[in-house]
Amino acid sequence: MPKSVKGSSGTALPAIAARVVKWQKASGRNDLPWQQTRDPYRVWLSEIMLQQTQVATVRDYFARFLQRFPNVAALASAPLDEVLGLWSGLGYYSRARNLHLCAAEVMKGHGGSFPSSAQLLQTLPGIGPSTAAAIAALCFGERVAILDGNVRRVLTRVLGFDGDLSLAAQERELWRLASELLPRRDLNEAMPRYTQGLMDLGATVCRVNPVCEICPLERLCVARQIDQVQRYPVKTRKIKRSAQSIWLLWAHTDDGSIWLSKRPSHGVWGGLYCFALFDDRATLQAAVPGGYRAALHDAPPLKHVLTHKDLHLHPVRLLMPKSISPSTPGAWVATSDWPDLGLPAPVRKLLTRFNDLPVRDGVSR
Ligand code: ADE
Repeated sequence: MPKSVKGSSGTALPAIAARVVKWQKASGRNDLPWQQTRDPYRVWLSEIMLQQTQVATVRDYFARFLQRFPNVAALASAPLDEVLGLWSGLGYYSRARNLHLCAAEVMKGHGGSFPSSAQLLQTLPGIGPSTAAAIAALCFGERVAILDGNVRRVLTRVLGFDGDLSLAAQERELWRLASELLPRRDLNEAMPRYTQGLMDLGATVCRVNPVCEICPLERLCVARQIDQVQRYPVKTRKIKRSAQSIWLLWAHTDDGSIWLSKRPSHGVWGGLYCFALFDDRATLQAAVPGGYRAALHDAPPLKHVLTHKDLHLHPVRLLMPKSISPSTPGAWVATSDWPDLGLPAPVRKLLTRFNDLPVRDGVSR
């Protein structure tokens, strides 16, 4: 065990939960749209959206999803394409595909009701241990620990936990400590407050550059006491990033139709509608009917950053008559239709700018 951390007999640990609960009530976020309920459908939907997306962006998507899919049955019975279309702009589309799979599984395997324990929730598509714990704690008051990126930062600092989180054993130890810290009384009220409180602290106070002066845990925080907040969390092995260059054939007609095909369900932008993609410009050129190759026009390249990868995108525009098609699978899609399809965010951005369309809440219409 890292030396700064007190064990279960330490005096500091019980005080942490009580302070977080009290602070959440007085100073945490209490008016987010998914907080007015303990309905697991809404909480689940919000937690999946919040996995890689900021609260400010999620608000509008959450409202639109609920309007279109008011319950898990509605979501399960919708076509995947519609779910992807509504998700368009949020990125990380495997979340949307898993959302759809999960809804179907809740209908088929659980009689239309989400299971109420973190252990069972984790068996559903797209729900990892921390998301399962968040849903179980927020909706059912289960005494289970969350440990997402923000909460890792809060806990390692407060506890002075300097174990290397690249190592599975240290990660397990932090989960164990996170479980020890949980409230022990009045769980139905305390667990939702405490869980939300840790998330709120991580997002608003104990940020990468923290505002320790307003933190309810300041006097208990080991990192603060030794003036080493930037040292935590300790993780020596960072994820390796890679880069990929992709050429996109942006074929369009003079009435604004574009040539799109549906991506295979796995791999980059799986299941989304997209321009034809190529590993290099020569292969792209070969997919264009001979008489049109001279008309290819290189648009400015752009970079799209994914978690593990930088995509260097090279759009190549081509104006064609509708009677001719690129020799790649796909179809001409009219200006009135493509905005509602699930499109990769950079493709939507290119099209929106090119067509001079308004951007609403990150989604072009
Ligand atoms: N991030 C993940 N879950 C959250 C929640 N319930 N509220 C605010 N931000 C979050």
